[in-house]
Amino acid sequence: MIDIHTHILPYMDDGAKNVEEALRMIECLEEQGVQTAVCTPHFDPTKGSIEEFMVQREKASLALKTFRLPLILGSETLYDDLLFQYSSLDHICIHNTKYLLLELPYQDQWSDYDFEGIERLINLYHIIPIIAHIERYHFLWKNKKHIKRFMNLGCVMQINAKTIIDKKKRKTALHYIEKGFIDVIGSDSHNMSKRPPNLKYAFVIIEKEIGKSYCDRLQENANLIIRGIRIRNDVSRFMLRGSEF
Ligand SMILES: [Fe+2]
Repeated sequence: MIDIHTHILPYMDDGAKNVEEALRMIECLEEQGVQTAVCTPHFDPTKGSIEEFMVQREKASLALKTFRLPLILGSETLYDDLLFQYSSLDHICIHNTKYLLLELPYQDQWSDYDFEGIERLINLYHIIPIIAHIERYHFLWKNKKHIKRFMNLGCVMQINAKTIIDKKKRKTALHYIEKGFIDVIGSDSHNMSKRPPNLKYAFVIIEKEIGKSYCDRLQENANLIIRGIRIRNDVSRFMLRGSEF
């Protein structure tokens, strides 16, 4: 299993408080069968530069270097017009790929102008946004048309494991997985108390409720993402750095 959305790097954001907590989170991931974790600390372009973020991320990752679990560096980047000041977004993408885990602003409505901004980001930087935890945006979660619109732009749709575990949200989440509206699941784990690693429990439920083939597809997508390979034909608009395309 690969966890493509974690906040295990210490001292970066509201994730692991220190190296000890990061270590406990890593052990927990390993116990659940996670073989690779993508570290996606928050990057907010309104609060600092990519360069500053990279320095901090490098320092945090060095602190975890001695641990066994392979870690891949990335970010969870908050979408903002300030991103357009950069000549490249490669350093905040998942390492050696064009996949960028993108957090959307939490607003009630999403206009054509907002969609055009995402499209511009894709066209200018040749990136593939992974829309982080789509269940957390009210304008999006209950609106299949909006989900389809993001997918038609070439975006990858991610939900958190907790949304499957949570009985209130499970039905919609499973329905969306069956219908192909969800591409990948991440733990979005932040700590060992309120938001611990929990990927395995979500997959146990998915397998029981709708079948192993859906687990396999979601896990294969995570595998393809970290290798920089397209996961759907409509996510193939651009050459992915480091891949055969
Ligand atoms: Fe996150």
